Amino acid sequence: MTVNLMPTRLRCEYLVDPLGIDVARPRLSWILHSDQRAQRQSAYQILVATDEERLRASRGDLWDSGRVEADQSIHIEYGGPEPRSGQRAWWVVRVWDGDGQASPYSVPAWWEMGLLRPDDWRGAWIGLDRIADDPGVLVPADEEREIMAVDLEPSPYLRTTFTVARPIRQTRLYVTARGLYEARLNGERVGDAVLAPGWTDYHKRIQYQSYDVTGLVRQGDNALGAILGPGWYSGYVGFGKNKRHYGVHPRLLAQLVIDYVDGTTETVASDASWRGATGPIRSSDLLMGEHYDARRELTGWDAPGYDDRGWTPVAVAERDATPLVAARAEPIRVTAELAPISIMRLDADTQIADLGQNIAGWVRLRMRGVAGTRVRLRHAEILNPDGTLYIENLRQARATDTYILRGEGVEIFEPRFTFHGFRYVEVTGYPGDLTPAVITGRVVESDTPPAGSFECSDELVNRLQQNIAWGQRGNFLSVPTDCPQRDERLGWLGDAQIFARTACANRDVAAFFTKWMRDVADAQSPGGAFPDVAPRLVDLADGAPAWGDAGVIVPWTLYQVYGDTRIVEEHYDAMARWLAYIGEANPDGLWVNRRNNDFGDWLALDGDALRNPGASATPKDLLATAYYAYDARLMARIARAIGRVDDAGRYDALFARIKDAFIAAYVSDDGRVKGETQTGYVLALHMDLLPERLRSVAATHLVEHIKEKDWRLSTGFVGVGYLLPVLAEAGHLDVAYRLLLNDTFPSWGYSIKHGATTIWERWDGWTAERGFQDPGMNSFNHYSLGSVGEWLYRYVAGIDTASERPGFRHTIIRPRPGGGLTGVKATYQSVRGMIESAWRVEDGAFRLCVTVPANTTATVYLPAGARDIITEGGQPIASASGVMLERREDGQAVLVTGSGVYDFAVASAP
Ligand code: BGC
Repeated sequence: MTVNLMPTRLRCEYLVDPLGIDVARPRLSWILHSDQRAQRQSAYQILVATDEERLRASRGDLWDSGRVEADQSIHIEYGGPEPRSGQRAWWVVRVWDGDGQASPYSVPAWWEMGLLRPDDWRGAWIGLDRIADDPGVLVPADEEREIMAVDLEPSPYLRTTFTVARPIRQTRLYVTARGLYEARLNGERVGDAVLAPGWTDYHKRIQYQSYDVTGLVRQGDNALGAILGPGWYSGYVGFGKNKRHYGVHPRLLAQLVIDYVDGTTETVASDASWRGATGPIRSSDLLMGEHYDARRELTGWDAPGYDDRGWTPVAVAERDATPLVAARAEPIRVTAELAPISIMRLDADTQIADLGQNIAGWVRLRMRGVAGTRVRLRHAEILNPDGTLYIENLRQARATDTYILRGEGVEIFEPRFTFHGFRYVEVTGYPGDLTPAVITGRVVESDTPPAGSFECSDELVNRLQQNIAWGQRGNFLSVPTDCPQRDERLGWLGDAQIFARTACANRDVAAFFTKWMRDVADAQSPGGAFPDVAPRLVDLADGAPAWGDAGVIVPWTLYQVYGDTRIVEEHYDAMARWLAYIGEANPDGLWVNRRNNDFGDWLALDGDALRNPGASATPKDLLATAYYAYDARLMARIARAIGRVDDAGRYDALFARIKDAFIAAYVSDDGRVKGETQTGYVLALHMDLLPERLRSVAATHLVEHIKEKDWRLSTGFVGVGYLLPVLAEAGHLDVAYRLLLNDTFPSWGYSIKHGATTIWERWDGWTAERGFQDPGMNSFNHYSLGSVGEWLYRYVAGIDTASERPGFRHTIIRPRPGGGLTGVKATYQSVRGMIESAWRVEDGAFRLCVTVPANTTATVYLPAGARDIITEGGQPIASASGVMLERREDGQAVLVTGSGVYDFAVASAP
């Protein structure tokens, strides 16, 4: 039997076989595979069962959807009885193709519920108090002083033992910390997550992780333990040397659930019976680094049989009402290793290794030496001209790890509860010569699955794409942060909203942003204000224009890219309150009364922004009003998407009112936009705030402005993301390419020419004339100005979702060749499957290879004059299957395709 259509890559809530979720009605998705063209799904049937065996017999004892006549293949709500805590549900799906032929059932997938009710938790929060005066801190006096200066504490090691006397069916560990934890079972590390449980506002919700530890528990004696670090909970976070934002000492909450073959269950939970001690981790902190004294290792502490009589009883706090929620997204993991590309010796004691790439993470170091030898690692993104580390831009982050050798055999150091943003690591006191074999960069990030790839014939653009992708990797750590190196690392909303669409192109960030949107919701003020940063910390102000608006823009983006209506439903009321919050203070439509921060077009190159980052020339009330209008317009579309038709009408009217006010206040009759800045024009054009008749003249003014600047950009964080899209849409593709390919200051290319491997925070982070910008704010790994990545995918490669058929239900493939590029190849793993757009110009002909996922359709635009000849697979287009030439217009041929792989060529008529 031939298989025309096959469901593959089954996922639940965006995750493959998630262990420990707490979504009451989980949504199921699959990707359809077909080797035929124009194949679609006409119906599906899902079976959900309590075990795999039942599925083999095609029995869904939890849910049988029956045959559903629908093409829906994503976000199908599970329709069986409400799942119980700890319940595993196995599922399969089969589909019927366009001709009504059924596929076999898919390979089984599953999801498993976590602990759903507060009283499922048995344990208490445990830890150690007063550990600061733990005696005998065996570190040299100067090092001790340094540590004391930042006032950090040793990490608690906590343990308990238990006995297993009957055969086990399965064992789960549910665990979290106020702080960071590493769980250990019988000498082994549990799972591969690092910096768990991740960052949330710990006053409002705490994530826990669930692990299958069946293989780690054994008959007889067992030991369960954990090491804690302060992390975001009690360590330093943000600027201004502030710590203990949520609490004083880290705490553990753990629950091991053993299900025996005989049907009984036993629970081992964190409680007063545990014992604690401090050990080799003398201090650890996200910003400051980790200090590890290997002479104090507690060998065997996490295995049974260890003598813990010298340990102390733990401090215990009962559970409170803070919600414990199942981790909603991929954990932070070590995702790659980098060997240094060079190692230099500065002096007898000091060597510097260059990883060749600015990353977030740490290094692993192997060594052998005399007990008590102290090795210090300092981290930096960049070097001074004299080859020393440039650390001024770290502000108060020490970013220093220290290891004291125990003096036996080969020793391996790798910190646990810190991370650094760096490319260079300076190693002092290392016994011997560093070689690539002994020092390894460990890349740490939220482990979001790869989604897109982009490559073209221009090496500068390829490096730009890599820098954008690395900027994302270095800043997506539990929340989207601004930078990974200095004492900041906050979840800035402005950065996130401008970069969100680019982020979606590079990685599957659906689960990541779903989690973070809850952080944003947690941070909303009772009055309706979204914050500047989520979790709301350090900067407690209400969200500035273009910052707070992320509360609307990010869910909208997720709806567009993933076809996710639940995310906009979940946050709908919060978004509505944000609009009401602005509206109440600004009844006339202009957002002039701002009770919040006001960053303007942050870090632009006009006005006084070079010296004062927020002082760009774009009028702040204009920028604010543009975002208010944009919010209203998106709200109308969101309301329509989820069937709130009345609201949609109201938001349409609100948009129209703001637009009128905007035009009256800021747009002159000759199409000039007040302030005459690139960002002002870009916002007015992108957010549809001009009378139709003035659109093209305003675009001309924008181009004149760019020309006056000698064809250079001057946009900051806010304008940059829409600059090239606006130019392309307004018919100035050549100008867009010119800005893209420029390598003189200011441009993306300038940083690349000077060795950037990530996106810089500032256009002038370093210039040949002036050297480094103000070290008070000069990160070399900030993703915001990398929001041009969206343009590479959507315009250069030309892959986009049709907005009205979101989630790539219908794809637009519309490459915009230009800029002298001779070829581009982009792929994108959408929620509905792999999309590809690869074009090249060859002997005067234009070739375009397109892949359209099964069960979806596409509109393909080919650059073609009225008399050009279009072929597919070498055959005249009229005879190609699965595709239809719909029309020719303005130098383009517009084709409509079904799914499949197509190979188009456009050649001029002989
Ligand atoms: C951050 C930015 C952020 C800005 C707000 C800076 O310190 O690094 O990324 O958006 O503050 O003005």
